[in-house]
Amino acid sequence: MVHRRRFLQLGSLGLGSFSFTGFTAGNTAVRKPIVISTWETGIAANKAAWNVLSKGGRALDAVEQGVMVTEASQNCCVGLGANPDRDGFVTLDSSIMDENANCGSVAFLERIKHPVSVARRVMEKTPHVMLVGSGAQQFAVEEGFPLEPQKLSDEAERSYKNWLKTSQYKPVINIENNKKQTAFAPTRFENGEWNHDTIGMVAMDAAGNLSGSCTTSGMGFKMRGRLGDSPIIGAGLFVDNEVGAATATGQGEDVIRICGSHLVVELMRQGLSPEAACKKAVERIIKIKGNAKAKEIQVGFIAINKQGEYGGYCIQKGFNFAVCYADDKNFMVDGKFLI
Ligand code: GLY
Repeated sequence: MVHRRRFLQLGSLGLGSFSFTGFTAGNTAVRKPIVISTWETGIAANKAAWNVLSKGGRALDAVEQGVMVTEASQNCCVGLGANPDRDGFVTLDSSIMDENANCGSVAFLERIKHPVSVARRVMEKTPHVMLVGSGAQQFAVEEGFPLEPQKLSDEAERSYKNWLKTSQYKPVINIENNKKQTAFAPTRFENGEWNHDTIGMVAMDAAGNLSGSCTTSGMGFKMRGRLGDSPIIGAGLFVDNEVGAATATGQGEDVIRICGSHLVVELMRQGLSPEAACKKAVERIIKIKGNAKAKEIQVGFIAINKQGEYGGYCIQKGFNFAVCYADDKNFMVDGKFLI
């Protein structure tokens, strides 16, 4: 409440240009509002989120509106413009979580432009956490979301046709520094694009409340029906308003194995900084897989805590994330890596 009052005081002073870095709670500097998100696409997404946060809006609205920008992009591996599964269909997974541990998710959702908004409706309008497949689509349509045409974007169609030449089933995602991967797991690299699978976003608003969202098309050319970590609360996304929030990108199977985002938040609860907590989670994956197998995959975690500190860590070089905490502070940070 102290923060809220101070926020209102500043607002009444006409400080329209938000930069609340340096807020204090007791003796601890608190940087808020703040939003961070995975990959370069996070810059545009953060901008939309900041538009909400800078007006004193709720973190939940910020993380929804932020990743909607990426979902709407036709030239990205998130949303309906993304790579299809190996049968040629784009299937989308998404989750959202607020400061009260309310959460919702959708998985294996087809022909809906904004899965994150459907996830939010699941959270707010049903007694459930997760809807999948045709049931999720039916719910979305009942909620007024238009059913989009079943059509691949031009880029996705080109990538898919290229993949069909060999149809070799070795999906690999997010290994940015090893273009050789394209030989057996063709991605958008060949068209000069990245193969990022996901946008995960976590934010703290001016009131000090945390929320997060995560949305993806998953691995390109995956088996039909395959889900990764992104729609699974605790794996691809976790928020605890007492502690912090974390989200993940990369090879979902390996994030699920360690309940990655929940692990990061619990490590922060034990006193680790966001970066140290993300590092420990990455170490856990590498320990389970062994160095050689871990080298074949990428996983990145990002996190914020209640002090507005942020951090990220990944298995191998190439992961980055976008950080925004002022009108003029929306920048990329290279994720530190272990291999
Ligand atoms: N991290 C997204 C996925 O594995 O589907």
